[in-house]
Amino acid sequence: MTRIAPYAEQREHMNVKGPGDARRTATQIIEHQGLVAHPSWADRVVLTTGCSAGELGPETAKAMRLIGADVYITSRERSKGQKITNELLADGKPGKVEVISIDLGSFKSHSLLFNLLKDALLASASPSFNSRIFVVVAAAHHRAEISFDSLDFDKTEYTPLGAHDQSLADILFANELDPRYQCQNLRASSLDPSGTASTVWAAVGKEWEVRGGLYLDECADGWLTPDDALYYHGGYAPQAFDLRTQKKL
Ligand SMILES: NC(=O)c1ccc[n+]([C@@H]2O[C@H](COP(=O)([O-])OP(=O)(O)OC[C@H]3O[C@@H](n4cnc5c(N)ncnc54)[C@H](OP(=O)(O)O)[C@@H]3O)[C@@H](O)[C@H]2O)c1
Repeated sequence: MTRIAPYAEQREHMNVKGPGDARRTATQIIEHQGLVAHPSWADRVVLTTGCSAGELGPETAKAMRLIGADVYITSRERSKGQKITNELLADGKPGKVEVISIDLGSFKSHSLLFNLLKDALLASASPSFNSRIFVVVAAAHHRAEISFDSLDFDKTEYTPLGAHDQSLADILFANELDPRYQCQNLRASSLDPSGTASTVWAAVGKEWEVRGGLYLDECADGWLTPDDALYYHGGYAPQAFDLRTQKKL
């Protein structure tokens, strides 16, 4: 099967070839997708979670401003989100920016968020422009098994790394959504970002129209990491596409 990897040079940094970095930036990807000159996303809505800190959330939201979309960002603390909102609006571009306060700390909150958005996602979806969900996950899922008896660490000790590994559940969540809503033009996949370019490509890339149920990393659709891999070179673990666990979850 041919891989979807128009920005395969993203992987160039893995080979040391001297100075320079061939990876495309988020802005270059938007330009390459032909979305800057004709900001065709006017009146379209993008919701970017985790936009109060770090780089990925705010940088992704910033890139969405280039294509004229209305951008909703989330933050647990409204004041932090408002600060990012003000920074985003300072570019003077059209399209609104609004902050929503949400806490996604519990396992159930992820599906609740989807259920709250579902009607809007389905109402705005069409065969020529699907609604699109990308769940941001982490390569750390390789270490994980789903702890069904302690999904919110209520019966086991909470550790940040342990919680990080449980992004496996988010991959399975996206895998479950996609076939359920595909016939209503809503598609879902998961993504290990490792940079804003990946999240932006996932959000706007034409390649993801009418595609879903996939795992992306390094600006490409991911592959199954070989069992005998000595080092981690990307890809997803077998448990990321385990249908029995997915259905149980
Ligand atoms: N950065 C990378 O290279 C990389 C690589 C692989 C995977 N990822 C994944 O990408 C995602 C974002 O990474 P990042 O580097 O941007 O992380 P980050 O800098 O730690 O930002 C995390 C964001 O998530 C929000 N957040 C934390 N706990 C939350 C909760 N309980 N409910 C709602 N929001 C919450 C934070 O907001 P508050 O201000 O409310 O804390 C913040 O805005 C993570 O899921 C990470 O696992 C990142």
